[in-house]
Amino acid sequence: MEQNYLVRKAHLDDVKAMHGLLLTCARKGLLLPRALIYLYGHIRNFFVAETSEGEIVACCALAPVWEDLGEICSLVVRDDLRRQGLGRRMVTACLGECHALHLKKIFALTYQEAFFTRSGFRVVDKSVLPQKIWADCVHCAKYPDCDETAVFLDVPDAPATATGK
Ligand SMILES: CC(C)(COP(=O)(O)OP(=O)(O)OC[C@H]1O[C@@H](n2cnc3c(N)ncnc32)[C@H](O)[C@@H]1OP(=O)(O)O)[C@@H](O)C(=O)NCCC(=O)NCCS
Repeated sequence: MEQNYLVRKAHLDDVKAMHGLLLTCARKGLLLPRALIYLYGHIRNFFVAETSEGEIVACCALAPVWEDLGEICSLVVRDDLRRQGLGRRMVTACLGECHALHLKKIFALTYQEAFFTRSGFRVVDKSVLPQKIWADCVHCAKYPDCDETAVFLDVPDAPATATGK
């Protein structure tokens, strides 16, 4: 049976489910694990997808990094629900928020290059992201031998409203 998912901003009651989704992927080396205290503290950055029964099946964060630059991170879709468009819906939700925050450019560091390029991102050299490197990457155990790919998107303009404003 086809499921409908509600993509919405996360709230504190979602954190334990988000933590579980992220931990499952982190154990496979797909992304960074996130501590509960990090998730509580950064809850405003997160979107989740929930089933009609209220189960959290995906999460994604949009983290502002610099004056017009944001990062898509902690993106997970539960593994049995992948390839149904939910990952793209999570990224689209983040793009909508870029307009509210006046973020003009977003990037991700990822092993899922194909997913992001299918969604309009382009592969870039990490040297175009100096703020990310100095704020985070230098503290990573893998630095400077990062094996993730940097993908980048100029945020498309917001769709015109019905009033044209
Ligand atoms: C990456 C991830 C979020 C994608 O979610 P998803 O719901 O499967 O993605 P979607 O169904 O929205 O896919 C969007 C497009 O990307 C393509 N795609 C998705 N995953 C892909 C993959 N691994 N390889 C190639 N193409 C892929 C889809 O076929 C679709 O293509 P389309 O333009 O032809 O429709 C999911 O695979 C996941 O949770 N992975 C583990 C965690 C992870 O690596 N997160 C990324 C951290 S930056």
